[in-house]
Amino acid sequence: MPTIYIWDRFIRSFHWGLVASVGLAAATGFLLGADVLVWHLIGGGIAAALVIARLVWGMTGNGYARFSSFLTGPREILAHLRGGPRHLGHNPLGGLMVIALIAMILALALSGLLVLGGTLKTGPFAFVTYASGSTAKELHEALATTLLVMVGLHLGGVVLESLRGRENLARAMVTGRKEARAGDHPPAARAARPALALSVIVATAFGLGAVGMSLATKPAQGVPVATWDAETQEECTACHMGYHPSLLPAASWRALTANLDDHFGEDASLSPDMTARITDWLTANAADTADSYPAHRLARVNAEAPYTLTRTRFWTRRHSDIPDAVFARKSVVSRSNCAACHADAETGWFSPFSISIPKE
Ligand code: HEC
Ligand code: HEC
Repeated sequence: MPTIYIWDRFIRSFHWGLVASVGLAAATGFLLGADVLVWHLIGGGIAAALVIARLVWGMTGNGYARFSSFLTGPREILAHLRGGPRHLGHNPLGGLMVIALIAMILALALSGLLVLGGTLKTGPFAFVTYASGSTAKELHEALATTLLVMVGLHLGGVVLESLRGRENLARAMVTGRKEARAGDHPPAARAARPALALSVIVATAFGLGAVGMSLATKPAQGVPVATWDAETQEECTACHMGYHPSLLPAASWRALTANLDDHFGEDASLSPDMTARITDWLTANAADTADSYPAHRLARVNAEAPYTLTRTRFWTRRHSDIPDAVFARKSVVSRSNCAACHADAETGWFSPFSISIPKE
């Protein structure tokens, strides 16, 4: 049986590379824990890069790769549904799905960067507010679910078309070849222009890199900045690490400093002057003034323990996977010793990239 070469090396690597990178991003995204976030970003970043390269190849590749060959109007789609001619490349409905998947992955990449910027103050959109980052997060999650549905539809389409045409379309995406048959509907022949494609891809990468870097120079919005001064630090770090003022709302700090004589079973009382000074500093830099992730999440205090971070719902949920034995380790000692696992705890930042649980 004579065969025709349909899917060039780029299309095939793109296709299976996208399966792998989207699979990685989806698996780590739906699981999302701080330890897999970096893999989520790698998967999503590779998927976005592949899609951008595919967009260029859609305008510079051979006949089968070009968007112009498989992007058709509703009439062709209807004709295909009624059982029109066999399409060697993407059929009109499959071509529509290709475009929809590409658009969806680009939208996911952009909304993902907005989540990273707004909620974690990281990346090119660190100047975005937490509120916008949270909205982007809802959008990102809805898009991710939609993408999964679309992948399901795409697989369904491949199975149906394979049955209908009595050919294995998935294998054709591996070998690149399909059987030649009488009455086939090949696209207009177009020569691939790999050198042009490569230069456009490189130029795009540089362009996006430059835009990203110039955006990243904008000051991050509402990052906790306050640092302890020597005197106040001494008073509040005598027994434990210094908790950043942005971790609790002003009302909680007021309640804490009003009860220093019975502070978690200890007498931590200070002179009235010093108490007033510390209270002023803590409340002036409290969660209400920061726009960071921990400030927003920990600010929902537990009404029964308004200044205990480790008794907020957020804290218990985020640390529920950690066994008690870990908190009892000599290097940790207590749940309240955030700095044992969060290298940046004293800054109030609590970046997911600065977490490491000590071994012993
Ligand atoms: C005499 C020792 C002592 C001093 C001084 C002290 N603390 Fe504490 N603090 C404790 C103990 C004990 C706990 C209970 C948690 C633990 O086991 O570390 C605690 C807990 C806390 C917590 C809650 C941590 C959690 O688990 O969520 C905050 C917030 C806090 N202290 C703030 C302060 C501030 C602000 C100052 C300075 C005004 C201060 N502490 C001074 C002993 C002290
Ligand atoms: C024994 C180690 C350990 C201690 C102690 C600890 N944490 Fe964590 N924390 C973790 C780990 C691990 C994660 C990531 C959990 C996950 O994957 O969702 C985490 C996640 C977080 C996050 C979310 C970070 C993000 O961006 O995803 C915040 C905020 C946080 N911790 C605050 C605190 C505070 C405040 C304290 C102290 C009162 C504390 N932690 C004490 C280990 C610890």
